[in-house]
Amino acid sequence: MRLAVLGGGGFRVPLVHRALLADRGPGRVTELVLHDLDKARLDAIGHVLAQQAADCADPPRVTTTTDLDEAITGATFVFSAIRVGGLEGRVTDEQVALGEGVLGQETVGAGGIAYGLRTIPVAMEIARRVAVRAPEAWVINFTNPAGMVTEAMSRHLGDRVIGICDSPVGLGRRVAKALGIDPATAWFDYAGLNHLGWLRGVHVGGRDLLPRLLADPDALHSFEEGRLFGADWLRTLGAIPNEYLHYYYFTRDAVQAARDLPHSRGAVLTEQQRRFYESVRRDPGHALAAWESARIEREVTYGAESREAAGAGHRDADDLESGGYEKVALALMRAIAHDERATLILNVRNRTTLSTLDDNAVVEVPCVVDAGGARPVVADQLPDYAQALVGAVKAVERATIHAAVHADPTAALKALALHPLVDSVTVARRLLDGYLRKIPELAYLRENHRAR
Ligand code: G6P
Ligand code: MN
Repeated sequence: MRLAVLGGGGFRVPLVHRALLADRGPGRVTELVLHDLDKARLDAIGHVLAQQAADCADPPRVTTTTDLDEAITGATFVFSAIRVGGLEGRVTDEQVALGEGVLGQETVGAGGIAYGLRTIPVAMEIARRVAVRAPEAWVINFTNPAGMVTEAMSRHLGDRVIGICDSPVGLGRRVAKALGIDPATAWFDYAGLNHLGWLRGVHVGGRDLLPRLLADPDALHSFEEGRLFGADWLRTLGAIPNEYLHYYYFTRDAVQAARDLPHSRGAVLTEQQRRFYESVRRDPGHALAAWESARIEREVTYGAESREAAGAGHRDADDLESGGYEKVALALMRAIAHDERATLILNVRNRTTLSTLDDNAVVEVPCVVDAGGARPVVADQLPDYAQALVGAVKAVERATIHAAVHADPTAALKALALHPLVDSVTVARRLLDGYLRKIPELAYLRENHRAR
C-alpha cells in the first residue's frame, strides 16, 4: 500500500513514519513517497527516516520527489501537511495582527484568515489533481487551518478528504487521566469546529463522568485545560473547551501575553527549524538525534502564550510524548483500508449532525470510520453559547474560502471584520492592507484590491 505525504520535507513527517514502523499488521503501508517543493528539506527528513528505520525489520520503502503527479499516482492515501509561505509567513501573520492589537495565531483570528487565504488556493489545486490522478485515494488533511482547508478541499473531493487534529484526542486523554479511567473505555461527547470544540460528556457504561470531574477542583487543576480555563469557568460552561478556546474566552490576557513574550511562536519555530535543517546538512549522521531534540523543544514550548496568560505553568510529561496526531492518522488509515470499524474525532462534512449548520459545512465531531469512510455520529446539539461562536466562525471560514476561490479582496475583508476576535471594521481594513503588502502569496488578491 502506497502513502504519499505532501509537505514530505516537513518537521513532523518522522512522527508519521514512526507510527508506520510500529504498525506490524498485514496490509500496512509498504511504500512511503515524500513530496516537497524543497529538495534540501526532503534530503534532511530522508536522513532522519533512514536512521529511524535502521533497527527495524521490513520498514516501508521511502522515496522522495518534487513532482506532485508522481507522488500521488497510485497512492491509496495522501497526507497533506503543507505550509504555504513557510514559517516566515506564520511570523508575518502574527506580527501584522499583533501590530493592530489582535491575535495572530496560525489557526485562530486574523492570523488564521491570512494563513487560510494563502493556503486554500494551493490546497484546492492539490485536491483537483488528486481527483484526476488518484480518484480512488483518500486524502487526510493535516494542513492548518485544518477545518477551513478541509472544507475547501471537499469541494473537489467530497467525503474523500478527512481533516485531522490531535487536540481533541489530547483533551480526551488528559480528562481520562484526571478521572482515573482508561480512555479506550469512554465515549467522548465532543463537538464543534476544528480548534473550536467542547467536550460535553465522558460516558462510561451508561454514566456521564464529566459532572464528577467538574465538581472536583483538584482533579481539574491536574491537567492543562483545567488550569488554562480555571475550575469556575469550566463549571459555568458545564463543558471542557478545546485549548484553543482560551483565545476566545481570555482574549485580552492572550493578546497581552503574546505581546509580552520576547518572540512569537512563529519566530521561535523559524529559528528552531533553521537550526535543525542546517545541522542535518552539516552532519547528516546525527539527523535523528538532532530531530528528536528539536521535537522535544517544540513540545515543551507549545502553547506558551496561553499558559503564560493563565499562569498554567509547564506542560505535563505525558503531553510531551507528541500530541499523537500521527496515531490518529494511522488509526484512520487502518480503519478505512481494513474495514476495521473505529470511532475517531475527525473533520468531515456535517450532513445533518449539527442542526445550525448546513450539510456541507466541515465540522469536528466523533465519526464512525470503516471502508466506506467517516460518518459523523453526534448525539446532542451544541449548547447555545457554542452555537453562537461556531456560527460566527463558520461564516468567517466561508468568506475566506470565497475570497480564495474568487480572488475577492472584499470577501477577505468581510472574513477579517466578522471574526469575533477582530473588534472593528477599521482594524480589519488595516489588517487586510498589512497582509496584502507583506505576504507574497497573496498577490492574487492584491491585484484585485488595487483595481477597486
Ligand atoms: C497542535 C495543534 C496543531 C498544530 C500543533 C503544532 O497539535 O492541534 O494544529 O499544528 O499543535 O503547533 P506548533 O505551534 O508547535 O506549530
Ligand atoms: Mn490542530
